[in-house]
Amino acid sequence: MEKKSNSNRSSAIGGILFFLAGFIGSLIVGWIIFPMVLYSKQPQPLNFSHAIHMNPERVEGIEGDTEIDKCQFCHEFREDGTFVGIPRLSKCTECHDDPDSPLGETKEEKEFLKTYVAAEKEIPWLSYYRQPDCVYFPHIAHVLMGKLQCSVCHGNHGHLDKLPPFEQNRITKYSRNIWGKRISGFKKHSWDRMKMDDCAECHSKTGHEQNNACFVCHK
Ligand code: HEC
Ligand code: HEC
Ligand code: HEC
Ligand code: HEC
Ligand code: HEC
Repeated sequence: MEKKSNSNRSSAIGGILFFLAGFIGSLIVGWIIFPMVLYSKQPQPLNFSHAIHMNPERVEGIEGDTEIDKCQFCHEFREDGTFVGIPRLSKCTECHDDPDSPLGETKEEKEFLKTYVAAEKEIPWLSYYRQPDCVYFPHIAHVLMGKLQCSVCHGNHGHLDKLPPFEQNRITKYSRNIWGKRISGFKKHSWDRMKMDDCAECHSKTGHEQNNACFVCHK
């Protein structure tokens, strides 16, 4: 009798171990391998350091009283209220105007001067945040009327020193910044994800439910 219940117990333990091994294995596949396969990664054409350009000890002339004014030195609104988005090369050459005289000492800058400024070639940036064409998103309503800080939707991007690779969901084609940082869908910060529900959630929270009709965001 005793022997039998011992072997029952050890086979029960064996079963639990077998279950755990399978469970942990599927967690590894689901949380680490699947997300790695799901997103393709591409490096940006050039490293642009927001940290250096936002630091007045390294770059002079990015003017503005507040942080958000400084951002708008490059990310400005046109006269008609539309948003410039990622600045064009002509913004950079306001300072980097001579490809033969770098402003700093770094090899990144020399590379930038040679490949883009001397060749008068636009930098083919990959946009982390761009929405599909069917979506109407006016920055002016959010920044000037809504008085929201850039970081509410873009986190720390305006102070990054190194640009992360651009990650694109192979199935939906959305960038990871829009589709959501975490595979679980869990949202820790307001900038972790920017899908339709995330837009609507903030409109409801801030008392702008009237903006949650289809035609407001889809023209
Ligand atoms: C000197 C010009 C300059 C200034 C000043 C500047 N940026 Fe940028 N910004 C860029 C360039 C160039 C890019 C494209 C490369 C990249 O993704 O960082 C960019 C990209 C971005 C993006 C990513 C857009 C996308 O869809 O990929 C965000 C968000 C952003 N900037 C926010 C900010 C914020 C916030 C500030 C102020 C704290 C700021 N920027 C100040 C030049 C500037
Ligand atoms: C207001 C003047 C100004 C503007 C506008 C400006 N830069 Fe710069 N940039 C500088 C200065 C000054 C440095 C050198 C800073 C240092 O190394 O201390 C620099 C450095 C750099 C570097 C080397 C930084 C590194 O990572 O080592 C790159 C690359 C660069 N800029 C790209 C750009 C691009 C792209 C734009 C346009 C979106 C731009 N800059 C707009 C002034 C400017
Ligand atoms: C309420 C959220 C929100 C706020 C606040 C916000 N943005 Fe954006 N930003 C977005 C969305 C959404 C997009 C994508 C827009 C699109 O594709 O039409 C975007 C796109 C961008 C882009 C890329 C545009 C392009 O050319 O593809 C830049 C650069 C940017 N934002 C910078 C800023 C800066 C700088 C501020 C602060 C002055 C700011 N944003 C404030 C949500 C926001
Ligand atoms: C963090 C909060 C927040 C997020 C996120 C947000 N919005 Fe808004 N949105 C607002 C506020 C606040 C207003 C009202 C601004 C005002 O009229 O004062 C607004 C207004 C609008 C309007 C109306 C503009 C007009 O002309 O009246 C549109 C369109 C809009 N949002 C689209 C979007 C889209 C698309 C997204 C997601 C990609 C989004 N919003 C995400 C806060 C947000
Ligand atoms: C507050 C802004 C907002 C409102 C209101 C809104 N949408 Fe969207 N919609 C978006 C954004 C942002 C996306 C892209 C991100 C995503 O797919 O979630 C999108 C994506 C979509 C798509 C997928 C498009 C594609 O290219 O795959 C459809 C379909 C759609 N919306 C339909 C609707 C309908 C129908 C309504 C009204 C019931 C509506 N939307 C209301 C912001 C909005």
